[in-house]
Amino acid sequence: MAKIVIENLSGKVVNIHPQSRSILAALQGERVDWMHACGGKGRCTTCKLIIVEGHDLLSERTAAEMRYYQEGKLLDNERLACQAIALGDLVVRVPPESKLPHLKYDF
Ligand code: FES
Repeated sequence: MAKIVIENLSGKVVNIHPQSRSILAALQGERVDWMHACGGKGRCTTCKLIIVEGHDLLSERTAAEMRYYQEGKLLDNERLACQAIALGDLVVRVPPESKLPHLKYDF
């Protein structure tokens, strides 16, 4: 079973099961609040996450992610949680613009 460590959320560990679900679905399945303004439809970038470790352990970028990537709204180390699927263990970080006001982040 793959897992995600959220580095700046006290190192919270989220298990991904089943592995075919999006990272956002996995986060929601473990009751981790994560911004997702468009409801996970790939129409915003609020669910963005920074990949710290495991870049090569992710599904290919979807068409929605490619569009934002080409527009410069997603960097090389950024993915959309609602689109990306983890194929192995990841370490991620919540970017400043996607932090929720009611949660306390480490940095
Ligand atoms: S929630 Fe809008 S793109 Fe992921």
